[in-house]
Parts: sequence; C-alpha cells; structure tokens
Amino acid sequence: MTQTFSIQESQKLQLEPLKIPQRLLLGPGPSNAHPDVLQAMNTPPVGHLDPAFLALMDEIQALLRYVWQTENQLTIAVSGTGTAAMEAAVANVTEPGDVVLVGVAGYFGNRLVDMAGRYGADVRTITKPWGQVFKLEELRNALSTHRPAILALVHAETSTGARQPLEGVGELCREFGCLLLVDTVTSLGGVPIFLDEWGVDIAYSCSQKGLACPPGASPFTISSRALEKVTRRKNKVENWYLDMTLLGKYWGSERVYHHTAPINMYYALRESLRLISEEGLANCWQRHQKNVEYLWNSLEDIGLSLHVEREYRLPTLTTVCIPSGVDGKAIARQLLIEHGVEIGGGLGELAGKVWRVGLMGFNSRKENVDTLIEVLRKVLPN
Ligand SMILES: Cc1ncc(COP(=O)(O)O)c(C=O)c1O
Repeated sequence: MTQTFSIQESQKLQLEPLKIPQRLLLGPGPSNAHPDVLQAMNTPPVGHLDPAFLALMDEIQALLRYVWQTENQLTIAVSGTGTAAMEAAVANVTEPGDVVLVGVAGYFGNRLVDMAGRYGADVRTITKPWGQVFKLEELRNALSTHRPAILALVHAETSTGARQPLEGVGELCREFGCLLLVDTVTSLGGVPIFLDEWGVDIAYSCSQKGLACPPGASPFTISSRALEKVTRRKNKVENWYLDMTLLGKYWGSERVYHHTAPINMYYALRESLRLISEEGLANCWQRHQKNVEYLWNSLEDIGLSLHVEREYRLPTLTTVCIPSGVDGKAIARQLLIEHGVEIGGGLGELAGKVWRVGLMGFNSRKENVDTLIEVLRKVLPN
C-alpha cells in the first residue's frame, strides 16, 4: 500500500520579492561592496571544474599573494567567512598537546584561545588591556617561558581598533623554533602587510572588509615551513572541510574535487582583488591612512575622543569613546534607522564604552567621513 503525504499549505509564506534598505556600512564589517564586485557576482555560474573557473582560481591565488606580499604556494580562498579561514589556520597546524601561545588583547584573541583549545592544544596566553599591543620584548619573554609550537597574534584587533606591530616577531619565532600564526581579517587590503618579510607562517582574512566584497570567500595562506608540520602530523586534520592536505589538491595542479566552490563568491573575490591590483597596493594603503586621519581629526573636531593611542590605531577601524551620559546603543540605532548609516558598538570589555567605525575598502572615502560627521552632529546631544 502506498502511503500518501499531504503538503502543509499553512506553512507557506506569501512574501514580496526581496527588498533590503540601502545602508552606508561604517561599522566593523561587512563594509559596502564595490559596485564592480557586485556586478561580477551577477555573472552566471559555471562548473567548479570548468577550465574558465580553474583559471580564475589561479588568478585569485596570484592576486592574494600580491595583497599579502607573500610567495607562499598554498595561498587560497576558503569557502566560508573569516571564521572558517581562522578555523582552517588553527585546525591544520594544531596537533593535540601542542603548546599554542595566544596574544589576547581583545575579543578575537579570545576566539583563537577557544578554537585552539577545541583542537586539543595546551593553550597559554599573554594578555594586555583591550586597546593596547604587545612589545617585542614582552613576546620574547612569553616565548621563553612557554616555548610554544605556535604563537598566534591578531594583527588588527577589530574589537579594539589596535594594530599589533609584527616587525621582528617572525625572527623571534624562528629563534624559539615556533610557527607564527596571524589574524589579518581587518588588515588585508587596508593596512600595510609584508607577510614574508615579517616571517608570518600562517595567515587568514575575510572578504567583507578591506577587500570590498560581500562575506563568504576567505583568504588563507601557509608557508612551506608550516606546511611541513601539517604533512608530518600523526593524525589527520580533525576538520575534513578545512583540511589543507585535501583543499591543496583542489587548488593545486591535481584539481581533485573537494567541495562545490561558491562560484559567484569567487567571481566577486577575484574582482575585488583585481581592483586593488589596479589601484596599486601602496596607493590603496595610503588612501586608507589618509581617510582615517581625516576621520580622526573630524571626530575630535566634534568633541569626541579615540580609544587607541595614535601610533597603534588601525587605518581600517577606529574605536570612538562614547561620551559619558550618552546611550551609545540608542545613538547607533538612530544613525541606522533615521540616516541609513551603520556603525558598530563595543564588544566584550569595551561593550557600552566605544563605538566602532570602519573605513574599509570601497568605503574608505572622504565623502563617507563627511556623511558620518554630518549625521553624528544631528544625533549627538549638544
Ligand atoms: C579579527 C577578526 N577575526 C576573525 C573574524 C571572523 O570573521 P567572520 O565574521 O567573517 O567570520 C573577525 C570578524 O569580524 C575579525 O574581525
């Protein structure tokens, strides 16, 4: 006897076609995608093993090496957001029992601690108040105390707006025989990075900030030194989807099927990287620096103060102290609902204390600073 099933018509929704309000995204990310990137995303998908797509993957690899200033062969995009690339970084190089030393001076340092612990690492931390950075000498002392297999640092701590200097850290790591893993989620494309010169072994990023692309395809790179550790592993990488020994065969010359790549996201990433290459990396970094300095001066002109010491401020993300007596959440909501401008609130220790203003990728423009200042003047109490 055949069983019959009836459709629950009551579950059906009668909706209008998608309509999303236009926003100026000046928060910690995502930032507005470049119009050319959105246009590229509209290109009809081809197969993930189509020669045209494979050629595009090669272009993404080459362009990523340029924006990161690295020669690393295994430089790819992970299908997922920045967290997926972060997890790929941690999962591949961490073996159970490895001592992993994490520099924690904000929310994303803590996320690295949590992740490394889940992959069985013996996690140690070196900490700083949120908004400060580690000095070389402090890192040396911590390396000497903990003798880790991996040192993990956040180059651009999005929760605080602080830029961790990396010059000399790779040399220290070599001296102590450990790998250097760096989060460049809020720095790639907007903050000077010289991955190879700085001796960084593993790095990851995202698409939705400095690259001016929607979220979903996230840069990942690993040095041959770190890859040796991956190939020497006693056990397989615990995460199948993010295992570089498998992913490397899809992105490398073998072209072995691994997963169906989000084709249109990769179109978008390729276009966003092409645009940076067209502008020139140095020009792109200078544009971010020039516009953020204009932002800092403009914010100070309207009586606001900034959380991070000038020398260590990020060109991509600025933390602004919420004046006492002001309801930071209410102001941010008013900016969004009444003026279509998004800024972020504080995370963790800085919740309720700062706003986070991003000027990243396509959004790093003078007119966006002017718009923000104009609307802030309207909503802030006199
Ligand atoms: C420093 C840092 N690391 C990791 C992530 C995680 O990236 P995603 O939110 O794209 O998963 C973020 C997100 O903002 C970040 O700022």
